[in-house]
Amino acid sequence: MSKFEETRWTNREFSRNYRDKANIYLPFRREFIGTAKSLYGYFFDAKSENNVLDLGCGDGLFIEELLKTFSPTSITLIDGSNEMLEAAQKRLGKKENINFIQANFQSLFSGQLLNQTFDFVYSSLAIHHLPSEDKKRLYSYIYELLSPGGCFAHYDVVAPVSTKIENWFLSLWRQWIKEHPDKEMSENLVGIPDQYKKNTDNMPDTLGSQLQALTQIGFKEVDCFLKHGIFSLFGGFK
Ligand SMILES: C[S@@+](CC[C@H](N)C(=O)[O-])C[C@H]1O[C@@H](n2cnc3c(N)ncnc32)[C@H](O)[C@@H]1O
Repeated sequence: MSKFEETRWTNREFSRNYRDKANIYLPFRREFIGTAKSLYGYFFDAKSENNVLDLGCGDGLFIEELLKTFSPTSITLIDGSNEMLEAAQKRLGKKENINFIQANFQSLFSGQLLNQTFDFVYSSLAIHHLPSEDKKRLYSYIYELLSPGGCFAHYDVVAPVSTKIENWFLSLWRQWIKEHPDKEMSENLVGIPDQYKKNTDNMPDTLGSQLQALTQIGFKEVDCFLKHGIFSLFGGFK
């Protein structure tokens, strides 16, 4: 497995920069989070017990949004970065049913860290840092962690099917940033799509190959629930 410690997420400045600016340069972030939240609400809210896991939680934005409307029984947030987990703790406060775990995905497989099953596993913009084989291994692990009927919702960047399409998707992304009303900010951030493309920490796989991997693992109703350029929300049920 690739090493989390060698990624830029262990850099305090880099993590802080992401937290401050992600809303500006991530296209339709609110809609992606809203759709994942709807997936949870529609299929799970009526159940008497719901345990939620957020893998690569960052500063806990998704869980904060979820808690505005729903009350899961328990929530577990995992991230490799101490800085990010601290920001999540600050955002969500101390609550008995919320657990914060500092761990990288690579260490999850030892089987010691998580000793419960989950109804809803969410992950955003984190798993694309793993090479293909590690992604598949993590997806299998998520499948094992899910209760019967449970759902995995994965919002992440995916690799376009060709360079031709990739060039369009990157230009679509630049356009989104350029349209931000704060012109100075958008000028500073318009290089992000090119930085994303150059950075070897980013190892996206195509949406098709990931849907196929999930299906092969045993997930049912595997589908893409929302897509804009390289940004996709996809997953399936156990
Ligand atoms: C782009 S941020 C996304 C954070 C949050 N999910 C969001 O949507 O805003 C990626 C997060 O994944 C975490 N991460 C990346 N690779 C990881 C790994 N191998 N193990 C654990 N966490 C990882 C980083 O520390 C960072 O907090």
